[in-house]
Amino acid sequence: MKFYSIAIDGPAGSGKSTIAKSVAKGLEFIYIDTGAMYRAITLKALELNIRNLADETLYDFILDTKLEFVNDLMFMDGKDVSKEIRSEEVVKNVSLVSSLKYVRDILVEKQREMAKTNNVVMDGRDIGTNVLKDASLKIFLTAAIDVRALRRFYELQESGSSMSYDDVVADVMRRDNFDTNRLNNPLRQAEDAILIDNSELTIEETAQKIMHLFKEKNLWQI
Ligand code: DC
Repeated sequence: MKFYSIAIDGPAGSGKSTIAKSVAKGLEFIYIDTGAMYRAITLKALELNIRNLADETLYDFILDTKLEFVNDLMFMDGKDVSKEIRSEEVVKNVSLVSSLKYVRDILVEKQREMAKTNNVVMDGRDIGTNVLKDASLKIFLTAAIDVRALRRFYELQESGSSMSYDDVVADVMRRDNFDTNRLNNPLRQAEDAILIDNSELTIEETAQKIMHLFKEKNLWQI
């Protein structure tokens, strides 16, 4: 049986998760938020007070961590951690954790396994360039920095954070810089990815555009 996959990559605040979720719902695919997986591992390391994640002896600890998506919620070792993984502390540490090669190797393997037996919409930074090189459709999603920072700002406010807008801009820029310049699977547009700048598009318009591209490219029958 053939399974389809849509890879959506892009910087923080480009609207990836909301749009990917909407596309997955529209096509009845499973949504896999790979950022949530890196965040969950970061949360677990913080909870266990593990300071030296760079030490590869933690390989087993990550390998043994059970990560699942149930109705778009992130479950870690059987517990719903969807809220906790959005905390400021996790945000501060996740870039470092996700830059470690052995962490990526394990999580990429888990992501590929999920796509082997399901139709998926997967979002992240390296989906089109690394995780699903043969994806049925690849999208590189972006938006102007001020638009992205404002989206993050509202998201953080909703989760109770008091971070100022200026601090959010600085944080988004810091993460862009880190994600783009890291050694292992940096954020890059795949050669065969379609670029969508959604600064002036709504979530729904962007999702519709992606679904249209997918159906067109894969001669999808509805
Ligand atoms: O998309 P997000 O903000 O939830 O991602 C959290 C962090 O994980 C971010 O710093 C980038 C990193 N990440 C990554 O390196 N590779 C992915 N495929 C997804 C996220």
